[in-house]
Amino acid sequence: MAKARKKKVKFIQLNEKDEGHKQNYWDLIQLLESTLLGQRYPNLLSDLYSELHNVPRTLVAIQGEAIVGGVIRGECFSGNVTVRYIGVSPELHGIGIGRTLMQKVEEFAQRTKAPCIKVETTSDISNFFSKMGYDITKRAGDSPDGYEYLMMEKPL
Ligand SMILES: CC(C)(COP(=O)(O)OP(=O)(O)OC[C@H]1O[C@@H](n2cnc3c(N)ncnc32)[C@H](O)[C@@H]1OP(=O)(O)O)[C@@H](O)C(=O)NCCC(=O)NCCS
Repeated sequence: MAKARKKKVKFIQLNEKDEGHKQNYWDLIQLLESTLLGQRYPNLLSDLYSELHNVPRTLVAIQGEAIVGGVIRGECFSGNVTVRYIGVSPELHGIGIGRTLMQKVEEFAQRTKAPCIKVETTSDISNFFSKMGYDITKRAGDSPDGYEYLMMEKPL
């Protein structure tokens, strides 16, 4: 495991014209389903499986041949960017993969001149987003597992 943590991780923006990238998208949603996200959204896998329009909104982290993390963006009609889903393989938590994925979302948002990036999250994860420069803009009640739903934003 220590070796796996040191092996180089590449970050790739998926492209709908590349058949291989559809497979990367499916591998990512299976990874997301195996994290806390899958526990919280029981329909995550079936919902995302057919949403191939997400492919060009997806960035993956790849180690060797394996997808070890990724983020799926969303769009608002106001031009803002949203982070719909982000996840990293549990054995590679804490080595900066999530931070790099968020930095790449921010680079995209800056290129498209988005006024801000938004994310909906829960209080147990909010410190991760606070560390990335996001502020809590709305508190939206308690989740069934006892955390608070939060809206967080980073103005650009
Ligand atoms: C949240 C998640 C994507 C973070 O990925 P990661 O690669 O482990 O994060 P990084 O290593 O880049 O950490 C960056 C910083 O955030 C902190 N951090 C990471 N995960 C955190 C968490 N769950 N809660 C609080 N802080 C966290 C790290 O300690 C680190 O702080 P530092 O820079 O002071 O050392 C990962 O924990 C994950 O996949 N969780 C399960 C899925 C999930 O909950 N997604 C978010 C739903 S909104």
